[in-house]
Amino acid sequence: MAKRKIGILTSGGDCPGLNATIRAVMLAGVREFGGDGVEFTGIYDGFHGLVHNECKMIESGDSEGLLRLLTQGGTFLGTKRTPHKKMEVVEEDGIDKVAAMKKTYSDLGLDCLLVLGGNGSHKTANLLSQKGLNVVGLPKTIDNDIWGSDVTFGFHTALEIGTEALDRIHTTACSHKRAIVVEIMGNKAGWLALYTGIAGGSDAILLPEIPYNCDKLLQFARKRADAGAPYSIIVVSEGALDDREVLLKKKELKKARMEAGVVNTTAKIVKMLEEEAGIETRSFVPGHMLRGGTPSAKDRLLSTQFGVRAFELIKSEKYGYTVAKKGDTIIENRLEDMAGKKRLVEADDEMVKVARSIGISFGDS
Ligand code: F6P
Repeated sequence: MAKRKIGILTSGGDCPGLNATIRAVMLAGVREFGGDGVEFTGIYDGFHGLVHNECKMIESGDSEGLLRLLTQGGTFLGTKRTPHKKMEVVEEDGIDKVAAMKKTYSDLGLDCLLVLGGNGSHKTANLLSQKGLNVVGLPKTIDNDIWGSDVTFGFHTALEIGTEALDRIHTTACSHKRAIVVEIMGNKAGWLALYTGIAGGSDAILLPEIPYNCDKLLQFARKRADAGAPYSIIVVSEGALDDREVLLKKKELKKARMEAGVVNTTAKIVKMLEEEAGIETRSFVPGHMLRGGTPSAKDRLLSTQFGVRAFELIKSEKYGYTVAKKGDTIIENRLEDMAGKKRLVEADDEMVKVARSIGISFGDS
């Protein structure tokens, strides 16, 4: 049987578990076909590397190297954000990106392409699949917002990091009797903020999916202070907006923020609590720390499960799918069904209800 040639790229924001997933695909591949029966080509910096034919064979016989991948954060292939909406646009460099990617795929003699990415990357994976390439997707992102999958690798590690940050914030907030606003990544989807806020014992959680009301949030903060609460922790998802801001266009929002002298929601909440509620307030932004470092044991397990299923899809030549998890079961979804959709927090999500039941405010009631 001819050697199987598998191209692998990681695209979009990195997260813990990318390397562990690649390792699982490779181990399963070598076990099935033997070291001479399968070849892995690493494509550098996501779709950019596919456009420009920047790649290298990955050594599959190096067991020590492969073991290191299990624990290594980031992505050893490098990654880049290549906006999907520009994929079919010829820009100043004059390159037809889709044609170039098809050419690289065929020049390398690939049998298939593995795309480890988030929502945008899955849109491009679907585009390439529709253009005739054999594509298998793998859902990564700390945002956990891939449609059709209960969980993505990277999320659990980020949750652990965010929770540890909150645990530490509690003690200093308490000593100084302050409010501390903790900003958690998540522009459109608030899963990470929601879970971190509950796990880390926050008092309020603001999400992009549940617009907050400034007066209600202030009322909540004042009430806590009046009731003798020594301090408050407010978790703010990066993309959270109030009920007036959600009605604004991007430019209008920028202008409103400029006029108010705040750069983002975190700054706005700090200002509001200090100036309108008279509560001394600080902010903390773990930012990219949430995406850094070694994957948690749970993410290593998920990465391994996902990598093995991706290889099974390749083995049975079932292309045009992305791997997913529903309940305890690993499944696959058609790229064309999931591309362009997002999994967002619903107002009646179980965890939102749980949070409300223990008195966590979403600033909306
Ligand atoms: O998509 C993952 C994510 O971490 C988002 O939560 C965040 O808004 C964004 O990436 C940050 O992107 P960048 O690393 O390009 O600043």
